[in-house]
Amino acid sequence: MNSELHPSKLGTKEYWDKVYESEITNFEEIGDEGEVCRIHRFGIESVKNMVKWVTDNVPISTNPSVLEIGAGNGALLFGLCEAGYPATSLSGIDYSPGAVKLAKAIASSRGYEIAFHACEFLHEDPPGLSHTKREVLALWDVMLDKGTFDAIALSEKDEKGNSPATDYPGRIGRLLKSGGHFLITSCNFTEDELKKLFATTETGLVYHSRVTRPVFTFGGIKGSAYSSVAFQKTPC
Ligand SMILES: C[S@@+](CC[C@H](N)C(=O)[O-])C[C@H]1O[C@@H](n2cnc3c(N)ncnc32)[C@H](O)[C@@H]1O
Repeated sequence: MNSELHPSKLGTKEYWDKVYESEITNFEEIGDEGEVCRIHRFGIESVKNMVKWVTDNVPISTNPSVLEIGAGNGALLFGLCEAGYPATSLSGIDYSPGAVKLAKAIASSRGYEIAFHACEFLHEDPPGLSHTKREVLALWDVMLDKGTFDAIALSEKDEKGNSPATDYPGRIGRLLKSGGHFLITSCNFTEDELKKLFATTETGLVYHSRVTRPVFTFGGIKGSAYSSVAFQKTPC
């Protein structure tokens, strides 16, 4: 795990609860849907890129079940809905009840029947879709993360110095269907770091592809503002 990352307020639930409290007020008062990640270095553009990756790689005709972890205001799932994925196959979880309330309010204002649930991903199994069997755990054809692993990696470490993010890749592998895809966008981890963390025998994931994104040059060194990488769970 990236030992360079130091705990910050972005890794606390209190921080996100406060953010969404004010976002809900803005939505109720002036209809501003908010865009949490505009204050965290990536926003609309990464939503577009992630939606494009999904449409290019996971056909709408297969009616894939999709879970976004840490869905915030739901913008990424709304993007998938607009691209033609059936809302009833899309689900978003977030541990902040304010995020769930905001995403539900926006979904309802747009007439989208996407499921949003309060769920702490590291310790609770996300509820399945209404039409999936409850006893099945590996429910998801596609799992998405935009900024959530980043936030978890900024949480306080335990007494042994381990980050809570250490458990995250294994939980993805456990909940993803065989052959399913996990697409993650991060501004704290490089593509190589993401590969090392997620493509392991424990997760059963292998590297699939990267999302093409803008590259900047600074001091003669090429880099990009964020990494978007896709993994696939090895088909049985
Ligand atoms: C950087 S924001 C990204 C929100 C959204 N994906 C977006 O791109 O706008 C991180 C989100 O993860 C949520 N989150 C952080 N840790 C979580 C956890 N352990 N379980 C579920 N949600 C979590 C936060 O409440 C927050 O909404």
